[in-house]
Amino acid sequence: MNIAEEFCRGSAGLSRRRFLTVAGCGLAATSLSDLAIGQSGHADMLRKSIPRTGELVPAIGLGTFRTFDGLPGQPREPLKEVLRRFLAGGGRLVDTSPLYGSAEVNVGDFAAQIGERQGMFVASKIWSTGDYLGDTSHAERSLYRTLERLWRDRIDLMQCHSLTNLEAVLGIMRAWKREGRIRLLGVTNHDMAYLQPLGDSIERDSLDFVQLHYSIFERRAEDRLLPGAADRGTAVLVNMPLEKARLHALVGRRPLPDFAKELGIANWAQYFLKWVISHPAVTCAIPATSNPDHVLENLGAMRGPMPDAAMRRRMVQYMETVPGFANLDKLGPRSWYPGKTYPGLITQAQAELRNRVAP
Ligand SMILES: NC(=O)c1ccc[n+]([C@@H]2O[C@H](COP(=O)([O-])OP(=O)(O)OC[C@H]3O[C@@H](n4cnc5c(N)ncnc54)[C@H](OP(=O)(O)O)[C@@H]3O)[C@@H](O)[C@H]2O)c1
Repeated sequence: MNIAEEFCRGSAGLSRRRFLTVAGCGLAATSLSDLAIGQSGHADMLRKSIPRTGELVPAIGLGTFRTFDGLPGQPREPLKEVLRRFLAGGGRLVDTSPLYGSAEVNVGDFAAQIGERQGMFVASKIWSTGDYLGDTSHAERSLYRTLERLWRDRIDLMQCHSLTNLEAVLGIMRAWKREGRIRLLGVTNHDMAYLQPLGDSIERDSLDFVQLHYSIFERRAEDRLLPGAADRGTAVLVNMPLEKARLHALVGRRPLPDFAKELGIANWAQYFLKWVISHPAVTCAIPATSNPDHVLENLGAMRGPMPDAAMRRRMVQYMETVPGFANLDKLGPRSWYPGKTYPGLITQAQAELRNRVAP
């Protein structure tokens, strides 16, 4: 049994020190390479190593789907403040995509305005379909546009978006990596219907990174994906760690359980995020937010003690006593982002489509 399986299955006797060591986790000392914007003075935050490079990244990143997609002409200051606080507060890894409306443009613009240079670890994606078999021009244009929008000569991590045209796109990304246009490559998905092809890719494709859906509610990645990634030396980004705000909607104003104090947990975001990043195979969770205060709450999940296997079980057991937890996903995508509105290009396009289909 490997260490991830040992942990996932809750074997007794796996000390915090042992699982932190084996999983490459660490409260790293500040080094010269940390002295990019926002990286100094955060040595107490949990960082984890990317297995293939040994590079340390803070265990909380920033997602940008919906939250960073604005409408041209509308105020963007709060979003810029989210990125500023994220970087100044010790965050580093930002995940975006050309498919997230204006998010990629906004990340690039804000980073430039804030004065960030190369300290930010940028992860983006490519969605290039089988329509372009034998023709890499679409993929080339996508990479070029991503570089342009993010104002970089190299992307830290390029990911095949939602397994689309995986075989062809992997080949293209491998060539980009050899040419130095991207540093690392990976595959993403969020839809649990695709667990099997995602697991196959982890085991077959020597990925630097995999991005998958994992949360205190959605734990199926523990069966095959997380142990597989740990075995293959593949770093793991976790999307939807807050279940698209449904976990917060569920707990509402409910007070935190008393045992949360033992972990220095000050709010529900930290409860849900500490649970995710304490899995030894997880490298970084990428919660998305449009709220500058929320970004600080989320970064706080990297501080203080992390739950061990027994405490993680206790955290799940507590959530199972919260009415509605078992049925969190029953309403499907219509229950995403309860109480939130994100006016952006994607929301606008979807509304236009709905009006055309059912005027
Ligand atoms: N490749 C894929 O297939 C895929 C799929 C899904 C997601 N992703 C990536 O993963 C990222 C994260 O996933 P997600 O955005 O779908 O879901 P998520 O991070 O689980 O949830 C985001 C929601 O949580 C809320 N939130 C964040 N911090 C909070 C806090 N401290 N307190 C209260 N509410 C908080 C946000 O609202 P506020 O704006 O009010 O803070 C937002 O509505 C995405 O942005 C994207 O980068 C990739």
